[in-house]
Amino acid sequence: MDLSIDINGNKLRNPVMPASGPLTANPAACERIAAQGVGAIVTKTISTTEAVVAKPAIAKVTCGMLNCELWSEKEPQVWFSEYLPAIAAFGVPVIVSAGYQPEDLEKLIPPADRFAAAFELSSHYLGTDPQPIYQIARTAKSLTDKPVFIKLSPHVPDLAQFARAAVSGGADGIVAINSLGPALRIDIRKRSSPLGSKDGCGWLSGPAIKPIALRAVHTIAQAVDVPVIGVGGIASAEDMIEFMMAGASAVQLLTSAMISGIDLFARIIADLSPLLEELGIERITDLIGLWKAR
Ligand SMILES: Cc1cc2nc3c(=O)[nH]c(=O)nc-3n(C[C@H](O)[C@H](O)[C@H](O)COP(=O)(O)O)c2cc1C
Repeated sequence: MDLSIDINGNKLRNPVMPASGPLTANPAACERIAAQGVGAIVTKTISTTEAVVAKPAIAKVTCGMLNCELWSEKEPQVWFSEYLPAIAAFGVPVIVSAGYQPEDLEKLIPPADRFAAAFELSSHYLGTDPQPIYQIARTAKSLTDKPVFIKLSPHVPDLAQFARAAVSGGADGIVAINSLGPALRIDIRKRSSPLGSKDGCGWLSGPAIKPIALRAVHTIAQAVDVPVIGVGGIASAEDMIEFMMAGASAVQLLTSAMISGIDLFARIIADLSPLLEELGIERITDLIGLWKAR
């Protein structure tokens, strides 16, 4: 079955991508993910300085993971001169994740542009007002002709309003959601958090957040007329189809692949065709928005 999709002029062999994070933090990691047959690679978020991350930065929790990672721990120059040229050579479209303020994007987008099939802008640290979201979309669109996706975090007060702000700034798509929180776990024997962050807190991801992410995707898909890329807790082809029925045009996953192994990408892609046949779906794009609230 033909699983290919077209997102804003980028033809992808299938709608499965790694979400921004440690599995795409350097060329060797990206090469392993590309070999799984994914439709595109989304890089770890690049910013203007290298992140200094408290360790341990990840911890398992029931049905998911907590993390206190920030953005890439490599300075952007390494990405421009070494990482992005190597990653682009794997022959899979590269979505460059960048953040955070408009002045950061002015330094990041032009040197990354020739390697990027599209840009994904994280809004994780932009607060709870939609204006900065509008502003980063507008700035990015003035710096590149490539599609610009805005990634929304679930802690904003009104996802539909934020998605509309991104689109009115020129965004070509919305990625939803980033990890949820802040969240906490306590090791009762050590009387401490397993994370190295100062307050012990981190961000929750994995199957625990899937129902929240699914509802977010549906809300956003109803609010705006651009592709939505669904992310949050996906662990199977069934999960992925749920996201597409809720309105996603493509999906990303990270935590489940970190927990069960990166061959999960290849397994999900292999499971898609028989599952679509079972459901009586002829083209994968027919799934998009099949479910609507009454
Ligand atoms: C360890 C870790 C690091 C992450 N780093 C980033 C990042 O640099 N940029 C970003 O936009 N999202 C980042 N995320 C969020 C993921 O891209 C994704 O939105 C979230 O984990 C939900 O998807 P999942 O449940 O499939 O992991 C990170 C998540 C984890 C677990």
